[in-house]
Amino acid sequence: MSGANLVPMTEKPDARPPLDHSALADSVEVLDRAESTNSLVTERARAGAPAGTVVVAEWQTSGRGRLDRVWAVPDRAALTFSVLLRPEVPAERWPWLPLLAGLVVDEALGELIGGVGLKWPNDVLVGEAQRKICGILVERVETPQGPAAVLGIGINVHQDADELPTTTATSVRLEAGEGALVDRTALLNRLLALIEERLPLLADADGLRAAYARRCVTIGRQVRVELPADRRLLGRAVDVDEHGRLVVEADGTRHVVGAGDVIHVRATDL
Ligand code: BTN
Repeated sequence: MSGANLVPMTEKPDARPPLDHSALADSVEVLDRAESTNSLVTERARAGAPAGTVVVAEWQTSGRGRLDRVWAVPDRAALTFSVLLRPEVPAERWPWLPLLAGLVVDEALGELIGGVGLKWPNDVLVGEAQRKICGILVERVETPQGPAAVLGIGINVHQDADELPTTTATSVRLEAGEGALVDRTALLNRLLALIEERLPLLADADGLRAAYARRCVTIGRQVRVELPADRRLLGRAVDVDEHGRLVVEADGTRHVVGAGDVIHVRATDL
């Protein structure tokens, strides 16, 4: 399948067309407004929804980020959606799910704009300044059919600079330049196809680790890792281990940190 297209913009610069229901599969539920697509898909999962259930919202009123942070975006400006997955892999492979999701977004956005890369564990960044363009939130949910995962993806698409939460964030439109408007429906279709295509990589420990390491811009950087209870680790990120943890070399010792333990990872040599 070809990538999601950038189409020449013929409307005024702030035009934000709605998602095109007719170009989406019937299994994709499109809502004008939702509190949080992750919360909705979690409810659906508990009620027995099948793998592949997708909810996308034009606007989230209580979008959630990692560590109970808020994920707020203007109406129709972003692509905010969640997918229900029921991965048939051993429990030790589950921590790779958010990293795999990062790879999928990296691939889809890389077809639209240059300079995309992955910040461990699962932020998608753009350019030398490493501005965040996408956040990923994977939540495990117990369901009558067994454990499931809700994969939530939020991509900044149409936002102008003054609509972004920080100066270290960016959007596809800002990166693509004036005169281009990203088709969010095409981008969603591309992402859903890639999720399906790449999910089997979850079982391929060596393949996934190598693919992730190739795209991860954190590896090789001097980093400050902020941990709970005001602890810090300063060192050089040198690898990602077989469990998807970041390996940081500090004072000649190798430390590993898991995504669940980390509050922030900041590159200090930018
Ligand atoms: C982060 O960077 O902290 C993760 C942000 C994840 C946001 C997405 S938007 C779609 C889905 N629904 C939510 O409430 N959150 C995720």
